[in-house]
Amino acid sequence: MSIKENILSNRLKKIAQFLPQGAYFADIGSDHAYLPVHICKQDQTARAVAGELNNGPYLSACQHVAAYGLTDRIDVIKGDGLTVITDLPVKQIVVAGMGGVLIQSILEKGKELLDGVERLILQPNVDSHYIRKWLASSAFHLTAERILEEDGHIYEILVADAHAMNGDHLEDQSLKSLMFGPMLLQEKNGAFRKKWERERENKLKIISQIKQAKEPNQSKIKQFELEVKWIEEVLTDE
Ligand SMILES: C[S@@+](CC[C@H](N)C(=O)[O-])C[C@H]1O[C@@H](n2cnc3c(N)ncnc32)[C@H](O)[C@@H]1O
Repeated sequence: MSIKENILSNRLKKIAQFLPQGAYFADIGSDHAYLPVHICKQDQTARAVAGELNNGPYLSACQHVAAYGLTDRIDVIKGDGLTVITDLPVKQIVVAGMGGVLIQSILEKGKELLDGVERLILQPNVDSHYIRKWLASSAFHLTAERILEEDGHIYEILVADAHAMNGDHLEDQSLKSLMFGPMLLQEKNGAFRKKWERERENKLKIISQIKQAKEPNQSKIKQFELEVKWIEEVLTDE
């Protein structure tokens, strides 16, 4: 296989910034192993596990790792979620490019395997509130949040550390904080505003669709209306 330049998306570059020098991390759902290859190429002391459930992406990951001569420092393992780190002393876990519900279920199913893990770097494409909620009842504390736009998509990155103690806002588990992200709410950058303007439009469309039903579900309407109100409050800096 010829070596194609491992060009990383801005999204994966941003995730990479949260891995320390000398990382020993697992990338769960590691199509092509782009992140492990990038990190291990630039840091000779880094090690990684590329975990993949599905055969196609697993084989792509194996080929990519072999093409870069990194099989001694990257283990490509086929398996479901965190099962691939069984008996491996990894210190950081990355789960990126999936929905928040799937990421939350991977963490929940594998929580017994997280004992020695120091950092979680999670990048949900949608529904990040499920992850914040899970973190709030776990041994991990949210320590950083990022939001960025790339190729028209808006991505959130949530970083959580074991035993972290930095900031009262981490204790703030209100529904609004879970929905918007406590740190993203403080910053409200351009990507954040764009995301929530889009969400507002989507929710308004859904409300009008529900209202057209023969027997509109009033509690659903109320919930969406409340969320629209919150979005408007946040976007108008109330
Ligand atoms: C959209 S890709 C994201 C790839 C990469 N993490 C990224 O952010 O660019 C999601 C990958 O996760 C894999 N996947 C989905 N569910 C998984 C699970 N339970 N365990 C391991 N991998 C999974 C899929 O096969 C797919 O390759």
